[in-house]
Amino acid sequence: MGKPKILTVVGARPQFIKAAVLSAALSPVAEEVLVHTGQHYDAALSGVFFERLPIPQPDVSLEVGSGSHGQQTGEMLKRLDPVIASERPDWVLVYGDTNSTLAGALAAAKLGVPVAHVEAGLRSYNRAMPEEINRVLTDHVAARLYCPAPFAAHQLAREGITAGVRVVGDVLDEALGLVAQRPAAWLTALGVSPSQYCLATIHRQANADDRGRLAAIAAALGELALPVLWPLHPRTAARLKDWGIPLPSGVRTLEPVGYSESLTLIRHARVVVTDSGGVQREAGLLGVPCCIVRAETEWLDLLEAGRAVLVPNPLDLPAAVAAARPRAEPRRAAEGVAAAIARDLAAGSTQSHWDCHRPM
Ligand code: UD1
Ligand code: UDP
Repeated sequence: MGKPKILTVVGARPQFIKAAVLSAALSPVAEEVLVHTGQHYDAALSGVFFERLPIPQPDVSLEVGSGSHGQQTGEMLKRLDPVIASERPDWVLVYGDTNSTLAGALAAAKLGVPVAHVEAGLRSYNRAMPEEINRVLTDHVAARLYCPAPFAAHQLAREGITAGVRVVGDVLDEALGLVAQRPAAWLTALGVSPSQYCLATIHRQANADDRGRLAAIAAALGELALPVLWPLHPRTAARLKDWGIPLPSGVRTLEPVGYSESLTLIRHARVVVTDSGGVQREAGLLGVPCCIVRAETEWLDLLEAGRAVLVPNPLDLPAAVAAARPRAEPRRAAEGVAAAIARDLAAGSTQSHWDCHRPM
């Protein structure tokens, strides 16, 4: 009897990082087929992670590229369908809440393949967010739901989902050890000193695609009593350029950085200003205070532990940044996600799945 086969679907920057953690840990217990949808394709958003992280090159590249939500997700579904049908995996594994997550989950569920969702149970309760639609739908078709914390499992229970739910901890906890960070002296080349700058990242549709809001965020960053480093997501870079939004003198923009550089920038920041899910958690893990430029966050534990604050109005950023204080102690270590998946694979009956007849 061979190892069970997991087909993992990734497509966006944060998923490459999470897959790097799990791929290595899964290799003793499962054969993994890695499918890259091509949602992110720039070298700085995709290639750099495959070059520098311990993640295998994708077995299959769907090269879907950018588009409207429907067009992009539909194209992924169309291209995933034959891949899943021919690979005949025991599980399809998806991460997080992107269009690649939803497409992977839906394509698998329609073929009758059990879906495993890592980062299950998170909710913003804001259906205007494309990610909220993706995570709700993915959770409702998933057979295995790996939650980062108990609150996520409770949220699933409120939607009637209790079967297959496990609280396994946050996979990003383990990602922090994936790469060596840059020495603090590296910051000198960027014109800043440790603990004396703010790191900003902004890419959510509600911030980046709203002209007035993006201009207000850029202006507010210029009002901080600290120099600001702002690695730009291509969506944000394009909007700043298209709309001619001026960058204040204290704000230095950068190309997107690699994971080692990103962790270095977070670790040494006095404060982080972000709308990113991953960056807010990494700041929390590293004890760096975080201002979340949104009205809500899925990561309630960060708010409850006082590691992050919500700053929905960009005008409030200068005061929130000035009030932010670092935390000395690290966030609670998580139980390994890979260990839980390995237990489930060992316990579950994965072998017979493709023996069942179903129309294709
Ligand atoms: C996506 C996810 C978001 C996640 C983020 C991680 C969805 C709905 N959103 O947002 O949840 O937090 O990835 O970074 O899935 N672009 C490029 N080069 C690329 C990729 C994108 O220039 O390699 C530009 C294109 O103009 C594209 C825009 O960025 O239209 C947005 O990209 P897209 O993947 O649709 O959404 P993200 O903002 O990256
Ligand atoms: N990140 C990176 N380079 C950057 C910005 C972010 O490597 O220029 C990392 C960051 O450390 C985190 C992940 O990418 O691990 C977060 O990705 P992103 O903010 O794009 O997506 P989200 O987490 O919001 O889905």
